[in-house]
Amino acid sequence: MPAILALLLIALALLLYWELVLAEGAHLGARVVVWLYDLVAPRYDRLKKFDPEVEATTLGLPLAMALAEVEAPRVLDVACGTGRLARALLPQVAFDGCVINADLSARMLRCGLAATDGLEAPDRLAWLRAAAAPLPLAPASFDAVACLEALEFLPSARAALGECMRVLRPGGVLLLTNRVGLDAWVLPGKTFSRAAFRRLLSELPLEAVVVQRWQMGYDLAWARKTAGEPKQGLVVR
Ligand SMILES: C[S@@+](CC[C@H](N)C(=O)[O-])C[C@H]1O[C@@H](n2cnc3c(N)ncnc32)[C@H](O)[C@@H]1O
Repeated sequence: MPAILALLLIALALLLYWELVLAEGAHLGARVVVWLYDLVAPRYDRLKKFDPEVEATTLGLPLAMALAEVEAPRVLDVACGTGRLARALLPQVAFDGCVINADLSARMLRCGLAATDGLEAPDRLAWLRAAAAPLPLAPASFDAVACLEALEFLPSARAALGECMRVLRPGGVLLLTNRVGLDAWVLPGKTFSRAAFRRLLSELPLEAVVVQRWQMGYDLAWARKTAGEPKQGLVVR
């Protein structure tokens, strides 16, 4: 009997480790995910080891170039964390717009505010505590919308994607990641296979879709919202 109890306790501990540490609460709902991100926020940048040069060449510069023809573009980063996109984009000379950072974790936002303190652009940055869905923002109000390394942690990736599409103007740029490889195995039901991700993108009113291998464990998709009517049968929720 004590042996069975010990085995049950070990199984429970392993399950908790999986769900809380490896899966970062992804199967346990937004409250748990946000609680965990509140806890980890001060260490987030150190854990992620963001390389400013890689961030600039893979995110900041290409996005600045994609928006070069727009005067003072408005960029929204959904589930922005500590504002990695803003930090990569705002220093680009080709970018004269602003970035609105939205996240549900108040502490991630506070750490992002502190991390962007050195950027000489306080009037081109805004921080918004908001869930990824529904977004408290007007339709077609952004020239670019990003959701990086976050879809897998949201209660519904499809609902969040639907909101990204709603607030993106026709012709605007969508930037999205999907977790792949071994890292995706710890999140059953929360990520898309490469084929399913492409299928999901193909259901959306998007053109010029490019999916590239990106940082460890992620694919990165670039696309533009089509100017026409949404495709019939689009499933976003
Ligand atoms: C892995 S981090 C990614 C942060 C940032 N995009 C990056 O690439 O560094 C996931 C982020 O999603 C946020 N998040 C989790 N659930 C959310 C929700 N329902 N709505 C908005 N943000 C959420 C977390 O607070 C966290 O900042």
